[in-house]
Amino acid sequence: MTAAGDGKPRRIVVAITGATGAVYGVRLVQILGAAPGVEAHLLISAAGVMNLQHELDISKAEVEAFAHVVHNVRDIGATIASGSFAAHAMVVAPCSMRTLAAVAHGLSDNLITRAADVTLKERRKLVLMVRETPLNLAHLRNMTAVTEMGGIIFPPVPGFYQPGFYQKPQSVAELVDHTVGRVLDLIDVPQTLAPSWAGLNGQA
Ligand SMILES: Cc1cc2nc3c(=O)[nH]c(=O)nc-3n(C[C@H](O)[C@H](O)[C@H](O)COP(=O)(O)O)c2cc1C
Repeated sequence: MTAAGDGKPRRIVVAITGATGAVYGVRLVQILGAAPGVEAHLLISAAGVMNLQHELDISKAEVEAFAHVVHNVRDIGATIASGSFAAHAMVVAPCSMRTLAAVAHGLSDNLITRAADVTLKERRKLVLMVRETPLNLAHLRNMTAVTEMGGIIFPPVPGFYQPGFYQKPQSVAELVDHTVGRVLDLIDVPQTLAPSWAGLNGQA
């Protein structure tokens, strides 16, 4: 069985850029790499690699091991640089303000921003887990521009309730998983990390 249900693997592109929150990208590619019927493509910017080491003490190679296909950010001739390569969706997790700005202005200056540009032009799902605070007007305008083009702006803002769980979040890992679960919902990958809201009294 495949995630798409048509016999073909569902290709999901994950890009990790240099905003804080590398854990979101790592967790996402870890889950997608093990998800039935999913072909997980991964690319990490130079600043993303720095943050992986700085925040999580893990190497680029360790993260790449979760993915089915790994791309070099400078390889602008890669499959995912073309709309003819049938990818289902792309998630930038986390997404820096630099990458957001490049996507908002159609600057395909590396493989991440080119693949995002392709995702938008092919009218596929693009989810940007933008992370900065506070936000200046350029950030806000760039988020508006991406939204107007059909992209989904998904800041990784934790919810301090957890639908479907009997106790409140106990760890950062649980908060991260809940957010990642909501992203998986958006890109049509079945998940159990973030159960749907059953009402305050736990009744559907
Ligand atoms: C430790 C660290 C944390 C950073 N956090 C953020 C952040 O949360 N948001 C952001 O937009 N940029 C952040 N930056 C800056 C970006 O990494 C920088 O703008 C970089 O050029 C982004 O390049 P990229 O989009 O190609 O990954 C951070 C940089 C470092 C070194």
